[in-house]
Amino acid sequence: MTNHVEFQDRMLSLGLARVSEAAAVASAKLIGRGDEKAADQAAVNAMRDQLNMLDIAGVVVIGEGERDEAPMLFIGEEVGTGKGPAVDIALDPLEGTTLTAKDMPNALTVIAMAPRGTLLHAPDVYMDKLAIGPGYEKDIVSLDMSPRERVETLARAKGCEVSDITVCVLERPRHEAMVAELREVGCAIRLITDGDVAAVIHCAEAEITGIDMYMGSGGAPEGVLGASALKCMGGQMWGRLMFRNDDERGRAAKAGITDLNRVYSRDDLVTQDVIFAATGVTDGSVVAGIKREPGYLTTETILMRSKTGSVRRMIYRNPTK
Ligand code: FBP
Repeated sequence: MTNHVEFQDRMLSLGLARVSEAAAVASAKLIGRGDEKAADQAAVNAMRDQLNMLDIAGVVVIGEGERDEAPMLFIGEEVGTGKGPAVDIALDPLEGTTLTAKDMPNALTVIAMAPRGTLLHAPDVYMDKLAIGPGYEKDIVSLDMSPRERVETLARAKGCEVSDITVCVLERPRHEAMVAELREVGCAIRLITDGDVAAVIHCAEAEITGIDMYMGSGGAPEGVLGASALKCMGGQMWGRLMFRNDDERGRAAKAGITDLNRVYSRDDLVTQDVIFAATGVTDGSVVAGIKREPGYLTTETILMRSKTGSVRRMIYRNPTK
């Protein structure tokens, strides 16, 4: 068992919200412009500038890629002034680059912060994920169950018919068999084109979003971010890394992962208290997207702390020059 590290997250949380807000504001001009790269770059630049103003000794553990792949916010990059607590940073300056470029819902800027050594250093591979909201018995569903078993078990626990359950799935050829099985079971499926951090968050507010469960494979880094959010909001999540070749297995080795088949629970992905901030870029059910009006921009940010389970939704009005 690791010792609990004191984390002054209360003071840092507003700073974290500023970081995600800045990334969203920077990407505003690029919504619906068809240029994923430019939108991402604008968010990366702004996120890094803001992050470096925080009094933390931060290390990016989930970032834009390996050092040789990403010039900024690469894995291992030290961020912050170096004067504050030692922390791990997981970030996705623009979660949903294509959603932003096409002005489709649920693009977010996302960042999480936790004491040093407490966020899984997830390599950039796929992760098989399963998430449900709060209020269910521990480990009621699992990655080892078939999609049918998961839905039937959840429906029993919720006290409803399987037809009343909605499962969110990334629309990908690799999920065709899963979707076919879910269709046979008779639940509803919310197919999304991108953005599985938002999809996981949706499970925590099922009564608002209508989504009871998220399943399927997506980015492992996004898995750690989703787990961070669920740790604050309540809800369960499980993830298992997926490897397609030796290069991907090598990435895991580099990240210090030895058990390639391990199932990580939410609390294995994020082992201690975490703070999480996400700002809406395009409209979504987690937070509203950026609104542009003459003279100013408005953003909405969700800011959460696992220590207290507090969830704030903050509106920020920023004059445009
Ligand atoms: P980007 O913003 O980096 O494009 O990621 C979007 C996303 O949909 C994630 O939410 C998800 O985890 C991942 O891509 C899925 O990967 P793939 O597109 O390869 O299926």
